[in-house]
Amino acid sequence: MIKPIFRIKIEQLVRPVFLILLLFVILLQNSHAIDTPQQQGISIKNPGSDLWREVRQRDTAIQGTTQIKSVDSNVLINPQADRWTRFRVDKLINIGFIVLGSVIGVILVFFLLRGRVKIEGGLSGNMVFRFHDFERVLHWVLALVFLFLALTGFTLLFGRTLFIPILGHDIFSLLASSSKEGHNLFGPIFMVSLLMMFISFVKRNIYEKGDLTWLLRGGGMIGKSHVTGGFFNMGEKSWYWLVILIGFAISATGLILLFPSFGQGRIIMELSHVIHVFGAIILITVSFGHMYLGTLGTEGTGESMKTGYVDIKWAEAHHDRWAKHCHDNNLVITADEYARLQGKGKVGYEPVSTTAGESGK
Ligand code: HEM
Repeated sequence: MIKPIFRIKIEQLVRPVFLILLLFVILLQNSHAIDTPQQQGISIKNPGSDLWREVRQRDTAIQGTTQIKSVDSNVLINPQADRWTRFRVDKLINIGFIVLGSVIGVILVFFLLRGRVKIEGGLSGNMVFRFHDFERVLHWVLALVFLFLALTGFTLLFGRTLFIPILGHDIFSLLASSSKEGHNLFGPIFMVSLLMMFISFVKRNIYEKGDLTWLLRGGGMIGKSHVTGGFFNMGEKSWYWLVILIGFAISATGLILLFPSFGQGRIIMELSHVIHVFGAIILITVSFGHMYLGTLGTEGTGESMKTGYVDIKWAEAHHDRWAKHCHDNNLVITADEYARLQGKGKVGYEPVSTTAGESGK
């Protein structure tokens, strides 16, 4: 039988093994406590950081060279684009929300305090012709296309913030891409109808004597007596010019954004975007007031864009100079005749031409 050289009892092994394990645990813990070079205040330079600082052009603008010949093609990364994105996300969207929300609030408070502006003594039923079919169709085409553009533009501007939490990414991406296509498609229709609106309404919207009084009296809000007005009053004329001027600015900037390959650089694109969005917010905001006055706000106004006729009492209340012209020229028709015309159509009836409106300033 082979005799073992060392006889070690198991109890003798326990102590050294325990000590080795303890040492191991202590070393392991200390290895975590060792500070990184940054924690120790030693800065180790990333070899790529200088390169990337230059690429991002944080310190100076760098123009490179490239075979591609187009605007800004020698700029690798444009840091201004980051600033623009931050402005759009942090400021533009908030400004839009605040402005639109406040106007809805003001209209609501105004309606609650003042209610519907009624015609004193009520409507008479005797009517006077105001707008041709062509003018009304033009108005509604412009209005509907505008509302569609406002809704799709609204989706593009506020959608990420408003709709993603409700609809989720998949549905929103479908909504956003269809809004973008629809917006691009209907933009040109807006431009054409705006141009037609400009041409067919311009004569009656030139400011004249008496309009300033309307403004100073807050369109009749200040003082008790009626405020004077021609075929269009000062408020309507100002709405018209706002639609035309801002509408054209929105159209021009829209074209710049839609066709980016005509030599316009990023700065022009960004500037166009700001003008486009601010212009749209101003128009949408004021259009709330216009829609309110055309529907709930004042009695009898909506009729003109529905049937083309208005009650003579409405004309006397809001457009006294034009109403006088209608009386002087026997242009008022009785309620019976109006009913007959509505039933039979306008065959055989020669309505007051819009030039009567023009001369009836
Ligand atoms: C529900 C929506 C709307 C209603 C109920 C409405 C109603 C009216 C009415 C009743 C008039 C004629 C006022 C009068 O007889 O003196 C009018 C004129 C006009 N509307 Fe609208 N409208 C609406 C939307 C819009 C929109 C969205 C736009 C443009 C973006 C617009 C642009 C105009 C313009 C330019 C005029 C002519 C004002 C002038 O030439 O002085 N409307 N609207």
